[in-house]
Amino acid sequence: MKGRVRVPGDKSISHRALMLGALATGRTRIKGLLEAEDVVNTAKALTALGASAHKVGVTWEVLGRGVGGLSQPDGPLDFGNSGTGTRLMMGVVAGQPITVTMTGDSSLSKRPMGRVLKPLRQMGLQVAEGDKDTLPLTIKGSAALMPIVYDLPVASAQLKSAILIAGLAAAGETTVIGEETRDHTERMLQFFGAKVRTEKRGNKVAITVTGEAELRGGDVTVPGDPSSASFLAAAALIVPGSEVFVDGVLINPTRRGFYDTLIEMGADVAFTNERNEGGEPVADLRVRTSKLKGVRVPPERAPSMIDEYPILAVVAAFAEGETRMEGLAELKVKESDRLAATADGLIANGIAARVEGDTLIVTGAGASGGKGGVKGGGKVVTHMDHRIAMSFLVMGLASEAPVTVDDTTFIATSFKEFRGLMEGIGAKLEG
Ligand code: S3P
Repeated sequence: MKGRVRVPGDKSISHRALMLGALATGRTRIKGLLEAEDVVNTAKALTALGASAHKVGVTWEVLGRGVGGLSQPDGPLDFGNSGTGTRLMMGVVAGQPITVTMTGDSSLSKRPMGRVLKPLRQMGLQVAEGDKDTLPLTIKGSAALMPIVYDLPVASAQLKSAILIAGLAAAGETTVIGEETRDHTERMLQFFGAKVRTEKRGNKVAITVTGEAELRGGDVTVPGDPSSASFLAAAALIVPGSEVFVDGVLINPTRRGFYDTLIEMGADVAFTNERNEGGEPVADLRVRTSKLKGVRVPPERAPSMIDEYPILAVVAAFAEGETRMEGLAELKVKESDRLAATADGLIANGIAARVEGDTLIVTGAGASGGKGGVKGGGKVVTHMDHRIAMSFLVMGLASEAPVTVDDTTFIATSFKEFRGLMEGIGAKLEG
């Protein structure tokens, strides 16, 4: 694998730029927005709520309606496969006096929504279906939300963000307290002129947003998605003789756990040309084939690499010795049960993997940087999960026999350029 590439814009930042743009006054121009299905569904939903979000030339433009200024949509809003789109939009809708029905595909319709609805109900959101935990759901926002102080029961940036976004419309200060998770909402709220403060409280963080906020639209540049880059980095590490550069990747400390773990495993990963782009730290990445050793990945690192465990497990299959990934309960409620799907995919390809409680243990075949080791030849069930599909396609690049995945359609939810970029640096994909 050889070459220099760029990955599309970060998914988390793309969703937030659209939504905060809609809650701002004036025009927000977004450069580098991720044009994947998940984000396009958010843009369509916001347009249906009266805040036009469209591509104009090479940038996206959102015509904001201000906090509380969105209008009643004509029909249900379909969020497809996207948990982030759904949960953050619940926070957006909470502060508007409108009634909205939210739907999604069969994967999204199994995922827990109660974790977000519970605090939003305390603030004044009404849910037509009572305590129902899953989509479809009809929710009714309010022009008179109450501020709350909320202890997060799970380390979820989606939950934190939904509450903070709702807090923009509340009469007073809303505080969320929990483990540190990706902080793009806080950064962007500040950039749009909201009053946000973050304080350390022991090993937790308390974030407070001042309500009745007035956001001003602005220009946002979305950096390359480190979660998408992880597949290219992994391919370079495990395919002998590789050197791949990925330029313009987000290296926000709350997102770089995967790369820190690779370095602990002995990976030759370098960040060069570190810089700040639109309030986020960015660097160019260089990855070379490396001899890797298994490591223990502590549970407190999970929030900073929550989407990268399937691809880390694939990398671990090529390392020498055991990799223990701890504290992965949240993986069970992603686009699929990723804990089970990852272990099953590894086993189908001749790798010893087991799940013990919330821990995933992979015994590496020790082939990274050399020949042989990982048998491959298995067919992986992807369960409508883009990251399971991409992770196991990467495995097939360096296994003895090719790896087959049962469905690649969901890759388009986050990274439709995956195949083209992979082939561009030397991968062979069939089908
Ligand atoms: C995201 C947060 C994470 C992550 C998801 C994107 C976000 O989910 O898995 O892909 O943009 O806030 P949780 O916050 O629920 O862990």
